Amino acid sequence: MPLHFLVAPGGRLSGRVRVPGDKSVSHRAIMLGAIADGTTDISGFLEGADSLATLAAFRAMGVRIDGPEQGRVRVSGVGLHGLRAPVGALDMGNSGTSMRLLSGLLSGQSFAVTLTGDASLSRRPMRRVTEPLARMGALIDSSEQGSAPLHIRPADGLLGIDYAMPVASAQVKSSLLLAGLYARGETCVSEPAPTRDHTERMLTALGYVVRRSGNRVCLTGGRRLTAAPIAVPADISSSAFFLVGASIAPGSDLTLEQVGLNPTRVGVINILRAMGANLVIRNAREVGAEPVADIHVRAAALRGIEIPVDQVPLAIDEFPALFIAAACAEGETLLTGAAELRVKESDRIAVMAEGLSTLGVRAEALSDGIRIYGRGREAGTVFGGGQVQSYDDHRIAMSFAMAALRSAAPIEVRDCANVNTSFPGFATLAAGAGLVISEQAA
Ligand code: S3P
Repeated sequence: MPLHFLVAPGGRLSGRVRVPGDKSVSHRAIMLGAIADGTTDISGFLEGADSLATLAAFRAMGVRIDGPEQGRVRVSGVGLHGLRAPVGALDMGNSGTSMRLLSGLLSGQSFAVTLTGDASLSRRPMRRVTEPLARMGALIDSSEQGSAPLHIRPADGLLGIDYAMPVASAQVKSSLLLAGLYARGETCVSEPAPTRDHTERMLTALGYVVRRSGNRVCLTGGRRLTAAPIAVPADISSSAFFLVGASIAPGSDLTLEQVGLNPTRVGVINILRAMGANLVIRNAREVGAEPVADIHVRAAALRGIEIPVDQVPLAIDEFPALFIAAACAEGETLLTGAAELRVKESDRIAVMAEGLSTLGVRAEALSDGIRIYGRGREAGTVFGGGQVQSYDDHRIAMSFAMAALRSAAPIEVRDCANVNTSFPGFATLAAGAGLVISEQAA
């Protein structure tokens, strides 16, 4: 059902907020718990549509999964070779992570399976996984454009591969490592820049030997995973909207609790700090395989920067929110080396440039980035009001909702139902912190 956000201008963010569990870690907890030996107890699981699609897929393949109930899930692992053929196709919804990681994991099974997705996912590029998987011996048919639906047939044994990824992608790396669990010999993946390493960390926590040297990560197929409890940290990607909101709204003083601060995910913190944000990390600790901490954020005068290219993979999901910060900064912000943004849930460069200009902020879309002319020096409001399209992209919707903290008139963000894919309860949580937001069913 279509859903729109109506956000009144002004306000500030304050108090303590715990955003839902990390999406990337939640997906992996289900996948690895399902193929482990023993029972995996997950806490902090993200009950969003994306991770629930992964959960439903494993249930459909015969895995007993109890929950989720308040973030608790119990997965009764069936071992590396215990999955069963599902009845019908597995629907991945809007979730690129589910589709790409499962295409690797399911290439090694002895049954055929079809992966489908919604309109957005069916447009997204899948050759980046199907090509290297085919080199391992996987049998996958896709559309002529190399996209979903993906039909995976049982292979006559997978063979390890030594693969240098052309794009920095944790999804590709993880897909190949998961196929590598089923392959003969060693599977190695080299990355052109560091990408999130949750798969490697979780495999290690479940007793699977993963070797990293420099930018190359390797594992040997055919070993066992041993169940262990998994605590999912709060998602830094969901926290990003609040980090930006509290930074741009004068008088804000907000603490985000138990946020996952994996070094491969902290680009948003590094970039905001380089822009002058006031972020203090407190109570840093390790929870399971992942570092977490509280983040205290207060409003600050931001300045535009040239975003260092090495930060791009570390902040890849946070750019829509960062563009709102850039609009509120003094001077220009330039992002390059981020062509990947064009193939996310929407074309995030085009869609953000469109929305920013609707709200009166000058932005030039580049083939691999954007130039944003920040309006920070103009005191008070930065954005005009108006109606902005999210193009069904959850992160676009939440980013433009936060823009209202510095707008002159209400902002209506259209088609926000997909916020539920990564951040169920966003509007309620944001309203509790001080955003004047309401949801309107169309
Ligand atoms: C993810 C990896 C990233 C990210 C996505 C989640 C993951 O995608 O954008 O939201 O969980 O591995 P890419 O690997 O395509 O960059």
